[in-house]
Amino acid sequence: MLAVPSKPPPSKQYLNQLRLHKAAPAPIQVAVSSGTVPWPDLVVQAGPAVSALYVIALLLSAPIYLVYYLLDKFIFPIFLYAFEAIARTPCLNATAHSEVLPGDGCAFITGADSGIGKEIALDLANRGFDLVITSHNEEHGEEVQREIAAKYPQIKVKYFAADLAAPDAATHVYEEIFPLLPDWCQDVSILVNDAGVGYYGAFVNVPTKKLQMMVQLNNNTPVGLMSYFLEGMMARKRGMVLNLGSIQSFDPGPAEATYGATKAFLLSISRAMHYELRSTGISVTAACPGFTQTSFWKPDEEPLGAKIPCLLQQAAPCAAQCVEGMFARKPYVVTGNVGGLFNRFLVTVGQMNSEDFGCWFVNTLWRLPKKV
Ligand SMILES: NC(=O)c1ccc[n+]([C@@H]2O[C@H](COP(=O)([O-])OP(=O)(O)OC[C@H]3O[C@@H](n4cnc5c(N)ncnc54)[C@H](OP(=O)(O)O)[C@@H]3O)[C@@H](O)[C@H]2O)c1
Repeated sequence: MLAVPSKPPPSKQYLNQLRLHKAAPAPIQVAVSSGTVPWPDLVVQAGPAVSALYVIALLLSAPIYLVYYLLDKFIFPIFLYAFEAIARTPCLNATAHSEVLPGDGCAFITGADSGIGKEIALDLANRGFDLVITSHNEEHGEEVQREIAAKYPQIKVKYFAADLAAPDAATHVYEEIFPLLPDWCQDVSILVNDAGVGYYGAFVNVPTKKLQMMVQLNNNTPVGLMSYFLEGMMARKRGMVLNLGSIQSFDPGPAEATYGATKAFLLSISRAMHYELRSTGISVTAACPGFTQTSFWKPDEEPLGAKIPCLLQQAAPCAAQCVEGMFARKPYVVTGNVGGLFNRFLVTVGQMNSEDFGCWFVNTLWRLPKKV
């Protein structure tokens, strides 16, 4: 049998070293927590020195935050207002002083046979503009043409029917219909893109064809018409475009997601074009009505908001605010009762920082909350 050599006992010197090592203070550990604020861990573990640093940093950051707050809330806005005032002075901004007059050309209005579009046509006729008007329903459109001609015999009015939801509708109107119209129709100095539809219900419940038709009518055709008719306005260095948005242009709209998105598109493109064209004598305005009493709302689809009297506006005052906003060369105008006060409030609440709250609010106004 092999004898296993036994381990020699530890020396005295080794035992002393071990004792010293155990007695030595632990090094400071600066462990950063996995949370978003590492400081509390650091303070706890690194002791009073870091606590003092923490307090000093807080004291130093307070005046920095105060300076930031003052800049953000007071100083920058003052500079911005001053900048905007300078940018709007007539010598720098051609649109500010290039008034569009009836003699400059006619007004072309889509969706002019009913609701807001018809009231816009009447308002412009009252201001002395000759009118080219269009809609889908020929019989009704011709009736409106006769009505305007009888009420304003001093102006000329021409109606044609067209399906603006058809693909290439804008090209058809510009290249095939307009050349057949009388000479006085050829110089369009005001373009109003009013024709629009809204199909309501959860996105998954609306037939695909209706969704695509809505985008075609509400967005593709207005883009095409603007592109074509701006050519003449640019040549004459004068003109105005009015696009019918909605208060839905500002917020996402559950129960009308696609409609809201088409209106957001119109607001966005109008504001951008308004800026691009600021020195050309041409302005683009998005009119953003709230609930307005027209045939737009089917009786069984009437939203909760349209049943609240202070929110529901009549078509004529709505149209007047749209036209005033256009003549004032505003990038957009929120219409509504009491100068659009209630609708501006709705827009603000809908835009509140909480996504869920904003969507719930808009959904409640348009529809009683219903889950898909
Ligand atoms: N009413 C509201 O509460 C409200 C709120 C915000 C924004 N808006 C917007 O305001 C605009 C006008 O709406 P409204 O309230 O005055 O509604 P409306 O009375 O129903 O008018 C809609 C107009 O669009 C025309 N239109 C519809 N489909 C067309 C097509 N395929 N081709 C050519 N024209 C077509 C209609 O012509 P036909 O009659 O011949 O079909 C009608 O003239 C719309 O863009 C709408 O989105 C309305």
